[in-house]
This record gives sequence, structure tokens and C-alpha cells, in this order.
Amino acid sequence: MQPKIGKLVLIGAGNVGSAVLNSLMQLNVVNEIVVIDYNKDKALGEVLDASHTTAFVYSSNVVVRVGDYSDCADAQIIIMTAGPSIKPGDKRDRMVLLDKNVTVMCETMEKITSYTREAIIINVSNPLDILTYVAQTKFDYPKEKLFGTGTLLDTARFNRMIADICHVDAKNVTGFVLGEHGTTSFVPWNTVNIVGVPFEEFKTQFSLTENINKEKILNDIKEAGMDILQLKGYTSSGIALSVCRLVDAIIHNEHCVLPVSILLNGQYGIHDVSLSLPCVITSGGIERVLELPLDENGKKDLQICVDKLKNIIKDLNL
Ligand code: 2OP
Repeated sequence: MQPKIGKLVLIGAGNVGSAVLNSLMQLNVVNEIVVIDYNKDKALGEVLDASHTTAFVYSSNVVVRVGDYSDCADAQIIIMTAGPSIKPGDKRDRMVLLDKNVTVMCETMEKITSYTREAIIINVSNPLDILTYVAQTKFDYPKEKLFGTGTLLDTARFNRMIADICHVDAKNVTGFVLGEHGTTSFVPWNTVNIVGVPFEEFKTQFSLTENINKEKILNDIKEAGMDILQLKGYTSSGIALSVCRLVDAIIHNEHCVLPVSILLNGQYGIHDVSLSLPCVITSGGIERVLELPLDENGKKDLQICVDKLKNIIKDLNL
């Protein structure tokens, strides 16, 4: 039988929150989903709509309802999606959301921490790494229990692209986008492989003729979120399944390695900044953080990312 957790609290019923809700209903690994939004009508509308799917899927006994922050007290997982997102026409940089969403994150964490320090909190709101940093450093929450979706979505986008180039299943690609979920994300190309065969070797073995422009691939990934929101107004499907992947990993105590945003604690000699590195995800949250063997380019890229994020953190007045 599938293990199920008791209760998951979803904060924010906007485009991302509602997509997460609907994907969680399909995932069928939770008994109870509680939705919190300052707009109670929107929360209720999403909850009612989602509840009507239960007659068609296996999750027919899931309780989905509107709640409030007191529901965090006995929640196993809390998903944070609250705060405005970038609109079409805005600057193509998640940092435009900084001021507003730091405030939203602080208000939300204050409420959560008045009820629990037990639940695993997954931050989804942007700017992802800065908000994750704020939550991790200002509220004395257990570090292993609080992380951000980070570059998991960028990694999914990357693995899709490499799979298309190599004509293999995306799940056979082991490649990571690391660093910021934003303009300084980077790919440690020396570690990318297809079932153990290094990417360059794979290309030679299979005489792949595609013109592979690594700079363009990375740029396309960095711009993917912005491109989608120019086209449809927001992004939702990719991030919703990224969240589901993490929920599944937590519930099944998978010990799988996924890139998520965590507070660095000496990895690569770096402290006091949040960004994505591959982490072992268990029912307790982050069990271990892996340090991939970065080549000179990777080290340089990581430093650019750290410098950018630290500069922003310095001006936050936390
Ligand atoms: C995304 O990359 C906008 O961060 C959001 O889909």
C-alpha cells in the first residue's frame, strides 16, 4: 500500500497554488489538503473545483478544504506559494518581486512558526533563493526542514532539452542546473551524463549531428519561465510537478537526489547564502547535500551566483 501523510497545507491559491493543488490531487499521496489564501473566495473556489475531481481519480477519499494558519500545527508538509508573481511586460527578472515578497514571506513565516517547527516547508515563491534565505535565517526553523524548489524546475527543463538532443528518455539524463533559480543559474557540464556515459562521449558514440550550443541551452533555460509567462501569463504546470516530485520523495522517504535551494553551510567553502545544490531528500527533509566535482568553469559560475545573491542579501536589512 502507498504510504500517505496526514496533512499538507498549501499557502496561496493563485496560478501556482491552484496548479499545485490539482497536481497533488492526482498524485494521491496525502489524506488531507488544506488551502490558505488571504482571498478566501478564491481559496474556496479552488477547493470546491478540486474536490469535484475526486470522483474520477483514486484519491476519492482525500479531504480538501479551506483552512487557516492554525492548520499548520499538525501539518507534515507546508507548501508556500503566496505572493505576487511576475506579469507579462514586467522586467524579465524574478528580483522585481523582491521587496513585496520578502514582506509576504516574513508575515507568512511568523504565522507558521507560531504553530509549528515540525513540518517540512517547501518554498515556491520568487525570488526563490532570497525568500528561502530569509525564511531560513530569520525564523530559527530547523534547517533541514525548510528548502526551496530552487533549480529543480530548471533541471527538469534542462533534462528535457538534453533528452531531445540525445533521443533518450529525459529520466536517463543525469544533469543538474545549479545555483540561483534565476539569471545566474549554471550547468556543471563536466558532470552531465546519459546513464553514466558522459555527454560529450555520448554525442560521439551516437554521431549526434545537432549543433550543440551550450551557452544557448543555458540561456534558453534561464529565459524559459519568462518566455512562458509572456505567452500564457504565468507558469504553473512545470512548477506544480516539481512540487509533487518533492512531496512524493518526502512521503516515500526516497533518499533521492534532487537540486533544491538550501542554506549553504560550508559546501565549496561557502556560507550564509541560499542556492540550489543536489540534496538527498527524505521524510525528514534534507539529509545530505552533495558537492559535485566542479571544473574551473563550474567554480567560476558558482562564485558569480554567490556574489550576486550575497549582494542582494546585504541590502535586505534583515
Ligand atoms: C518559473 O521559472 C516563473 O519561476 C517561475 O516558471
